[in-house]
Amino acid sequence: MSNLTDELEASIRTIKDYPKPGILFRDITTLLGQPRAFRRAVDELVHPYAGQQISKIAGIEARGFILGGAMAHQLSAGFVPIRKKGKLPHETVRVAYSLEYGVDEMEMHKDAVKEGESVILVDDLIATGGTAEGAVKLLRQMGANIVAACFVIDLPDLGGRRKLEDLGVQVRTLIEYP
Ligand code: PRP
Ligand code: ADE
Repeated sequence: MSNLTDELEASIRTIKDYPKPGILFRDITTLLGQPRAFRRAVDELVHPYAGQQISKIAGIEARGFILGGAMAHQLSAGFVPIRKKGKLPHETVRVAYSLEYGVDEMEMHKDAVKEGESVILVDDLIATGGTAEGAVKLLRQMGANIVAACFVIDLPDLGGRRKLEDLGVQVRTLIEYP
């Protein structure tokens, strides 16, 4: 399968009513398990930034860690974990956020990003954009210059892309599900 969109769509599994009734959960573990689809997704995510001075990739727990680690390696950048509350051992900044099926809090180490550093934010999926918005707030609080926010999947009906763009963040996504 050579068309990227087709290959990525074919590699993603949909689970009905997970984690709550009414949610169609887009499961990228099946994409990650297919070497070619995984490589193509990461290559496509980093493509526009090759040769640019990207200091850090900030990945959102949990699937943003997997994509972000691979992206950081390809761009010779550092990696910054943005985690659910209580998981990071050093001093953190924290923010509350809501997502398609709940509310939570996330944290980042205070010293993970320095004023003016160029950062790309990554996660597997953007739905309402609540999670990514929280991550943008943390990064900006520490003075990061957010070059872009990247996602494999966009659920455009839930408005997340627009929410980030309204915050002045450039958004890059690979496939959409209506
Ligand atoms: C999923 C996904 C994003 C978030 C997107 O993570 O990986 O982080 O939801 O939703 P939003 O755009 O409506 O905010 P989830 O909260 O399920 O956490 P997990 O990665 O720990 O499974
Ligand atoms: N995060 C928020 N909504 C989601 C969905 N439908 N599938 C996977 N992750 C999600």
